[in-house]
Amino acid sequence: MRGTFITLEGIDGAGKSTHLAWLADFFRQRDIKVRTTREPGGTPLGEALRAILLDPASKMHAETEAMLMFAARREHLERVIEPALARGEWVICDRFTDATFAYQGGGRGVDWQRLLELEQWTQRGQHPALTLLFDVAPGIGRQRARQARGADRFEQERDDFYVRVREAYLRRAREAPLRVRVIDASRDLASIQRQLANIAGELCR
Ligand code: TYD
Repeated sequence: MRGTFITLEGIDGAGKSTHLAWLADFFRQRDIKVRTTREPGGTPLGEALRAILLDPASKMHAETEAMLMFAARREHLERVIEPALARGEWVICDRFTDATFAYQGGGRGVDWQRLLELEQWTQRGQHPALTLLFDVAPGIGRQRARQARGADRFEQERDDFYVRVREAYLRRAREAPLRVRVIDASRDLASIQRQLANIAGELCR
């Protein structure tokens, strides 16, 4: 049986990494084979593109940036995600296409329709079964992210950039209400995990 594809989204510092590890454990305890991965990245080429995309020294047009995100994604789908799902593994991916709509669309102003075309081209109508959007006000999220490590090319953006990123994420959630579950990530860890357990439990049935 084909595996289930789950993606995690949210602005920097929303706590995705912690939740990803917790979710992977939750499924593994139920004897589900889980593969975790991330974007941009997940393949040798994808990780090389990631290094360029996140390097504060890189200069590129916003549409170039969007196309590189999708290029890394095509490779990732082809070589990692699709084969794993076909083997029956569950794939949990730290960021996917909603991040491109949020950061390149909302943040940088790349045309939404163009992104829809690239999404269609890259994914051939395939979408994650479930996307968890960890929503938090940019002020809170970014403070956490900055404490964690030095700022990459996106983390150096100003607060208004992150306000637009958040809005674009929420727009994606409104446009796909069955796929995207919005999680209030400003709450304490225990209540978030209770909600995650409910959502993840539904999937295991
Ligand atoms: P992430 O892995 O969450 O960064 P970190 O390891 O620092 O927590 O994401 C890397 C950055 O890439 C993040 O700032 C968002 C950005 N990004 C885009 O702008 N567009 C995309 O399509 C993706 C997948 C990520």
